[in-house]
Amino acid sequence: MKKLFIVGNWKSNKTTEETKEWLQAVSLLQLPVSSETEKETIVCLPYTLLPTVKSFVEEKQLALKLGVEDFSAFDAGAHTGEEPPELLKEYIQYAIIGHSERRNDLAETDELIAKKIAAAQKYNITPILCVQGKETPVPDGVTIVAYEPIFAIGTGHPATPENAEEVAKFIKEKHGVPYVLYGGSVTPEDVHGFTELSSIDGVLVGGASLDAEKFVKLIEAA
Ligand code: PGA
Repeated sequence: MKKLFIVGNWKSNKTTEETKEWLQAVSLLQLPVSSETEKETIVCLPYTLLPTVKSFVEEKQLALKLGVEDFSAFDAGAHTGEEPPELLKEYIQYAIIGHSERRNDLAETDELIAKKIAAAQKYNITPILCVQGKETPVPDGVTIVAYEPIFAIGTGHPATPENAEEVAKFIKEKHGVPYVLYGGSVTPEDVHGFTELSSIDGVLVGGASLDAEKFVKLIEAA
């Protein structure tokens, strides 16, 4: 059975009230379970929303795992404004690392990203490493890579399935990564065109994960 990861990336969005509405809607719509594929649904959230989402998921026993969109490369201690994995691990199992928005807006380097990957591994958090193409370095031991070409992010113009398959296959062969996801303008309408590909093991979804109905539809269609 093929395992698929459906990962929502909320970026800088949603208040606690809006999050409660999203959770309520998702629990009523019900996250789909499939007999043909094993689907793991993850939402990567702003730090402020982690306690709310964690308690709701536990109370309602939703099939939803939690992640963050980044964390600090420092350990806990005197680092004003930083959020280290050691303190986040009580909430999360996953962390997006190296998103192109952080590489571009915050000048994150491959070196810093490698440090964060090592920190994730130290605290038993599974990093979802974002790569922008075949040239992006992939540190040893990474198990989930998300191929996110910059032209496709938030533009409504996804990569072609042919391009996603070619790059995913290359990454698997070159780096021995077991799971490669595709991300960039994924919608309920086009998701299956990616998840049906033999080298694609799921999707990283920004915009379409913010709307509960759209997100559930997307998981169903994957
Ligand atoms: P998008 O974002 O789905 O809104 O294009 C994807 C991402 O940046 O993770």
